Amino acid sequence: MKVSVTVNSTAYERDVEPRTLLVHFLRDHLGLMGTNIGCDTSQCGACTIHMNGMAVKSCTTLAVQAEGAEIVTIEGLASNGQLHPMQQAFWDNHGLQCGYCTPGMIMSAVKLVENNSQPSEAEIRQGLEGNLCRCTGYNNIVKAVKAATIAGGD
Ligand code: FES
Ligand code: FES
Repeated sequence: MKVSVTVNSTAYERDVEPRTLLVHFLRDHLGLMGTNIGCDTSQCGACTIHMNGMAVKSCTTLAVQAEGAEIVTIEGLASNGQLHPMQQAFWDNHGLQCGYCTPGMIMSAVKLVENNSQPSEAEIRQGLEGNLCRCTGYNNIVKAVKAATIAGGD
């Protein structure tokens, strides 16, 4: 089947099998390896991307369901050589250890702050509950999200 999508402001059209998952489409068909696969069962959030303005787990979305969609992946957050404020906040606050969860964590955090520009610590923890960090670096992740809101949010 053909699927046409816009990813990080670039239009793509590719032939895919109907069973192709969006995460595999992004990684294997488009070569965007920043979106990770941690579980394949919608639990870890490592595969989180933005689709039509919403944070979506791309391991439980078929590529064909993205037909016509606007997608942003972690590769699309920085602009003009500048990290997105959320990426910068993770960097500044050491919001990562091995980094495997980080792309998904950041994609979820960006949407969290878009929807609530001044989240409390509890709201940050709740907003990121769909993203697991196996290194258990949650305290610095929360600190990073808080810092991003202080720095001006999204
Ligand atoms: S790989 Fe998608 S939620 Fe874990
Ligand atoms: S930093 Fe290692 S899984 Fe989160």
